[in-house]
Amino acid sequence: MGEKVYIFDTTLRDGEQAPGFSMTTEEKLQMAHQLAKLNVDIIEAGFAAASKGDFEAVNRIAKEVKGPVICSLARALESDIEIAAKALEPAERKRIHTFIATSPIHMEYKLRMTPDQVLERIEKAVSFARNFTDDVEFSCEDATRSEREFLYRAIETAIKNGATVINIPDTVGYAIPEEFGQLIEDILNNVPNIDKVILSVHCHDDLGLATANSLTAVKHGARQVECTINGIGERAGNAALEEVVMALKVRKDFFGDLYTDVNTKEIYKTSRLLCRITGNFVQPNKAIVGDNAFAHESGIHQHGVLSHRMTYEIMNPEDVGFPMSRIVLGKHSGRHALKRRLEELGFKFTKEELDRIFEKFKELADRKKEVYDEDLEALIYQEFMRIEDQEPVKVLHFQVQSGDNMIPTATVKLLFKGEEREATSTGNGPVDATIKAIQKALGIEPKLLDYSIKALTPNTDAQAEARVVLELDGVKASGRGVDTDIIKASVKAFTDALNRAIVRKEYILQREEIREEGTV
Ligand code: KIV
Ligand code: ZN
Repeated sequence: MGEKVYIFDTTLRDGEQAPGFSMTTEEKLQMAHQLAKLNVDIIEAGFAAASKGDFEAVNRIAKEVKGPVICSLARALESDIEIAAKALEPAERKRIHTFIATSPIHMEYKLRMTPDQVLERIEKAVSFARNFTDDVEFSCEDATRSEREFLYRAIETAIKNGATVINIPDTVGYAIPEEFGQLIEDILNNVPNIDKVILSVHCHDDLGLATANSLTAVKHGARQVECTINGIGERAGNAALEEVVMALKVRKDFFGDLYTDVNTKEIYKTSRLLCRITGNFVQPNKAIVGDNAFAHESGIHQHGVLSHRMTYEIMNPEDVGFPMSRIVLGKHSGRHALKRRLEELGFKFTKEELDRIFEKFKELADRKKEVYDEDLEALIYQEFMRIEDQEPVKVLHFQVQSGDNMIPTATVKLLFKGEEREATSTGNGPVDATIKAIQKALGIEPKLLDYSIKALTPNTDAQAEARVVLELDGVKASGRGVDTDIIKASVKAFTDALNRAIVRKEYILQREEIREEGTV
């Protein structure tokens, strides 16, 4: 059968830590259910001790998501470990992931601890974590800049005290593949009892080498890869799950009998779900999941692919669940056709949910002749994935006057945390006027960092997709809105981003309060 490489997904922890990627508890739950369908081995659901929100997310995922091992990060502190264990209590299978830095620069300037003190903390933390579960992972943060002999000692200490997984993070994305592969091999050859644990890697992408480093590590004996969907994560991100998994699958000739249990047909859907939830989309040329990943534009390529697909394609788009057939539904399509198309796209709904979607679908099909997959996804997202109480700003109504000989003027009525407000503003165009009216009604002026609008599908009745990136009091957030009306799409994108920024700001404040109280 071969040897398994465990896939440890940290989208909800390392991924979510990145600016503009924060998720609410409900959104994390949605993602976690999809990660379970993707069949990852371990879901790192969060860092339970970081805040009440993190605790709640880990706890609900532990309670509700079945299949993968559910894991929480914890610093090498008894208080953190206790909170992680409590959050994980309802999980069928749980893991505590504890870590401490082992590099000279981190020990001296961040921890202000001597190497011996760090070893003592490892001993205490790992053995304490074993009181709650027999699945304990230990990470030597900044392993790739740690002194080799000390790194071996740290790992040996963790194993002696009960760690079952040892993780080697390239925390700052500093390693080069050959060098990282050698490090893994040296650890395997020099640390006593290393064969009793699973050796894991966790690579960041600061030099664009996270996937290459992870795969080289696997080639040299690592058997767990920590990664994220779409490669999201701190700074330049983490190794992308879809790239690691597909490389192992497509290049069996190189990797031999190594395999993962990931259901690759769920990759595309998982990637899209994450995009919709966070409002951040992958670039078109992103490996495996980008819009152009399987598009052939040049005549020579098209001719080659038509003659024999494998001339220019090294994997089948179907293997990653990439939607190839662009079946178009319209106002004459019935409930049955809609249900079938939704199932082909990987969505399953109850009868009541389907009724709701069908009603919205009919409204949309009345407004535009052809309803594409992108339209359906957008509709589902808006119907099911936004949560009322996480939308502090809700636009009730707006009206815009615009023409070739007048100053565009917009009036907006909205609710802010339940309170009704109204304002009128002029602007440099109808979108600008409407956004300014919203800002005036709210009395805030976020910095607009990016705004774009594009047609999702052909024809002038297409749905427009607007994207907004903004900053509110130092908090960055992205939003997306889809509608056949470009002003409405822009308003939706703007309020989506604004709501994320407001919710995130409150979440950060809550974390700070908890830190001040000394819980973390
Ligand atoms: O990058 C890193 O070092 C981490 C650890 C906490 C595993 O995320
Ligand atoms: Zn990391």
